[in-house]
Amino acid sequence: MTALKLVDAPSHKLWGGRFAGDTAPALDAVNRSIGVDFRLWPFDVRLSKAWAIALWSAGVVTVEESLALEHGLDAVAARLRAGVQPAPSDEDVHTLIDRLLHEEIGDVASKLHTGRSRNDQVATATRLWSMDACGVLDTAVRELQQVMLAQAESLSAANVIMPAYTHMQRAQPVSAAHWMLAHFWPLDRDRVRLATASRTAAVLPLGSGAVAGCAFPISRVLLQGSLGFAQLSPNSIDAVSDRDFVAELLFTLSMLAIHLSRVAEDLIIYGSSEFGFVQFGDAFTTGSSMMPQKRNPDALELARGSGGRLLGDLTSLLATLKGLPSGYNKDLQDDKRALFDAVDTMLLVLPGVAGALAECTFRADRMKSALSSSKMATDLADYLVGKGAPVREAHGAVGALVRQSEEAGVELHALPLKAFRAAHASFGADVFDALSAVASVERRETEGGTGPGAVRAQIVAAKATLA
Ligand code: ARG
Repeated sequence: MTALKLVDAPSHKLWGGRFAGDTAPALDAVNRSIGVDFRLWPFDVRLSKAWAIALWSAGVVTVEESLALEHGLDAVAARLRAGVQPAPSDEDVHTLIDRLLHEEIGDVASKLHTGRSRNDQVATATRLWSMDACGVLDTAVRELQQVMLAQAESLSAANVIMPAYTHMQRAQPVSAAHWMLAHFWPLDRDRVRLATASRTAAVLPLGSGAVAGCAFPISRVLLQGSLGFAQLSPNSIDAVSDRDFVAELLFTLSMLAIHLSRVAEDLIIYGSSEFGFVQFGDAFTTGSSMMPQKRNPDALELARGSGGRLLGDLTSLLATLKGLPSGYNKDLQDDKRALFDAVDTMLLVLPGVAGALAECTFRADRMKSALSSSKMATDLADYLVGKGAPVREAHGAVGALVRQSEEAGVELHALPLKAFRAAHASFGADVFDALSAVASVERRETEGGTGPGAVRAQIVAAKATLA
């Protein structure tokens, strides 16, 4: 039997000592995570510089050695920033930086790994990356909210009204700004969740070593302060095992993606010829290679589709974590694949939805014409209740009128006054006012309602959340 082909490039390993033979290429291939985790390098450099100082203040390295490590890490960062790419033999971002640091400063580079392990290192770097990502995501969500707010303001100023739907059936007239803001508030909750996910990530694992803690008297408090963490991990085993913070961010992003898929779905339906409430702009739609008339809302469809992708990222991580024994296990290496995919996807989708929405023109005429007077049946019942009728009786009387209008094939307002009087004695000539969509909207001024004053107050509150 021929022996497995061994790696040809001299590999730079952090763990080769106890092995007589080299590793199999098939292991190297499955084990290598540099293709995914390379982007952690700025955070790994940052935590490594903090570790170099911690080693000095613990008396483990001299001040000269600590400075050499720091300057060496700066040089490594400069090379990476300038575009230095990993070699095929680099296992992960940590071994890459270790190799480059050796190239910069020679043997003293080895001292950096004193008392630490890639287990506490990768947990720390991934937490730093997540904290940073939460900030970037928050900005992107906010930008979409700004667009929603701007659209809501112009719809509110123009008093545009439209049908609200329940069960996808026209239900009641609402202000179009109110509909727009119905998509604003879920994003506000997503931003709260992002802030929470960032706080959850802000627990420092560094100093936990491989699993049992660090045997050198390094100050974890000093590390915490210099790296901007809110807390120290209270247990080294938990610190290297815990990926809750990734799961929490993935849930937050799944929820966000689901919210975006719902905005997208509304706009896609409203943009159909059947609805015609919305006209898409040129910059965020595509044409068809076959059908010249087409204007397809691709950005919105991709946003809708991304909900499924994000759910997959969340589920894959939860499935990885389930039943893992305590301590670090290599399964955990896959956390970053899901995390990066989810964040990357959201950072593509958010500006896509913001751009597509900013370009939408709302067709007040089409919205209004979808408001036939049967949509005011609730207002008609409210009218009777206002005149002292019990709700059930009012509901029954209006139901009978709706049936008559359907049988006659006319709108409610086309029924003669005597038909109203026959349905309920309390109907007067002013009943036709109750059938106005504008009046129906104007009556709903309680907080959170669709009345123009309530919507203006909502816009003020929405602005305040973005301030
Ligand atoms: N690339 C690894 C990861 O992402 C780093 C930690 C490896 N630790 C180890 N003991 N092999 O999880």
